[in-house]
Amino acid sequence: IAGASSNSAGRGLWSSRWVFFLAATGSAVGLGNIWKFPYITGQNGGGAFVLVYLACILAIGIPLLMTEVMIGRRGRANPEGAIAALAREARASRHWRWLGTLVVLTGFLILSFYTVIAGWAVAYTPTAMSGGFSGLNGESSGALFGAMLANPWKLAGYGTLVLLLTLAIVAFGVRGGLERSLRFLMPGLFVLLLVLVGYAATTGHFMQAVHFLFDADFSKLSGQGVLVALGHAFFTLSLASGAMMAYGSYLPAGTSIARTALMVALADTGVALLAGLAIFPLVFANGLEPGAGPGLIFVTLPIAFGQMPLGQMIGGLFFIMLAIAALTSAISLSEPTIAWLTEKFGISRLKAVLASGITLWLLSLGTVLSFNAWSEVTLLGKTFFDSLDFLTTNLLMPLGGLATVLFAGWALSRKLVQESIGIDQPQLFALWWQALRVVTPLGILVVFLHSLGLF
Ligand code: PHE
Ligand code: NA
Repeated sequence: IAGASSNSAGRGLWSSRWVFFLAATGSAVGLGNIWKFPYITGQNGGGAFVLVYLACILAIGIPLLMTEVMIGRRGRANPEGAIAALAREARASRHWRWLGTLVVLTGFLILSFYTVIAGWAVAYTPTAMSGGFSGLNGESSGALFGAMLANPWKLAGYGTLVLLLTLAIVAFGVRGGLERSLRFLMPGLFVLLLVLVGYAATTGHFMQAVHFLFDADFSKLSGQGVLVALGHAFFTLSLASGAMMAYGSYLPAGTSIARTALMVALADTGVALLAGLAIFPLVFANGLEPGAGPGLIFVTLPIAFGQMPLGQMIGGLFFIMLAIAALTSAISLSEPTIAWLTEKFGISRLKAVLASGITLWLLSLGTVLSFNAWSEVTLLGKTFFDSLDFLTTNLLMPLGGLATVLFAGWALSRKLVQESIGIDQPQLFALWWQALRVVTPLGILVVFLHSLGLF
């Protein structure tokens, strides 16, 4: 109704709230849930980390998710344009637009390594289908993964494939393809994860995994670990990277942002916890190290696929679905940059895709080489990939998130925000408003200072 034609020329809208929900869930659910969450949980000692992560989702992630979608929808432009428009409307400083530039850059940098990791899932699909996992144990599975990492040509090839696919979809319009693929992807991924959790329950180490994931022993959690939990809450909900603002800018007016955001966060958290429950029983059953790092799912799951009935088919399906889940996230990671380039510089969508594609590809080679030729080239003990991951997830995202809540909570007026967020009950809005203005900024600051060892 309203909104269907109220936007400026050239900017389309999602055809319904349901499609927006699918797209936002497609953005949120990805490698963060299935690849990253289990391995950083393992590295940071388990239960206490999970608890802090869940608290960050609830107290910081969800209010910020609503805020970002609101900014996008109200501003009806790429992140920089939307923030500039809102700042103008509220007579706030012009300099807030830099926040928009920052989040676009963050998403761009993440995309440069995201496609490489997604390439791992693509690379494992044919291996799974052709029975390449049969008879694997902890050691041989680790060796198989190590052999892949050692081959820069293979990593670059599959990473390039994912990047090309992402850019092709983005160049030729996001919506149709996204909607169609998400309709079967999300339920399919959920069912497969349930199957894997069911299989994991037969390993005899299921309860050990449950204890590992949910018994909070705070002596195992460092200040850095708390920052990693906060950073991951941003990463997993696609926050502070322009993605949710960009998707919000295509959201028709008059739909409830609050309810949709809650559903997205719930689906995202559910998938992450299921992934943890599927993977840790296998870690313990096969005598693997929970803190083994980025290879965790690529070492554990193949062992299970090699043993279970129908493992070839289930394993192949799993890695295809993981790749598609990553693809829908990668698309959302690129949209802020593409919208920014086209709207700010007035160039065509195709030109924007080509320009960003070349830069992304060059950057992605740095991540590829981090796992082989450059694995000894480090800065403060971190490889190129580690540095990029730390810079984006643990520094730029918390900073961008902090600036975003300060912008919405303190630079914009309560009236403007209340009008655009669409929370009808006044008490509920008051609660959210206080969370936004006080809880989120303080929460982020406390985590930051704690990670620096200040208290
Ligand atoms: N949320 C995605 C995941 O968990 C990653 C992502 C981050 C996507 C930032 C968009 C923006 O895999
Ligand atoms: Na996620």
